[in-house]
Amino acid sequence: MLETENNQIETENAISGAVDVTIRIYGKEHIISVEPDETILMAAIRENIDPPYACQIGACCTCRAMRVEGEIAMDEREGLSDSEIEEGYVLTCQSHPLTKNVIVDYDQ
Ligand code: FES
Repeated sequence: MLETENNQIETENAISGAVDVTIRIYGKEHIISVEPDETILMAAIRENIDPPYACQIGACCTCRAMRVEGEIAMDEREGLSDSEIEEGYVLTCQSHPLTKNVIVDYDQ
């Protein structure tokens, strides 16, 4: 933890602004920048790494990936079961990185 001049407590990996996220897909690894108003899926599409997706509203699970490392916030989790979430799966169309060290793997 770090204490800022304003006495705000931040974790070491806390982020503000765009953050690099590591994407593993089709046997390759890509590091992409995710803007604060983007989902991980939107950034992956923008970077032309051809991620799987369909609905983009969190219902179909086509964009499902395993969170390997780091913290992620999901806007919606409709398509995922509780057990999938416990296993570490996320819907990348609903996912925003909360820390600097996020790795997601579409191949798992
Ligand atoms: S694209 Fe359908 S749940 Fe993400």
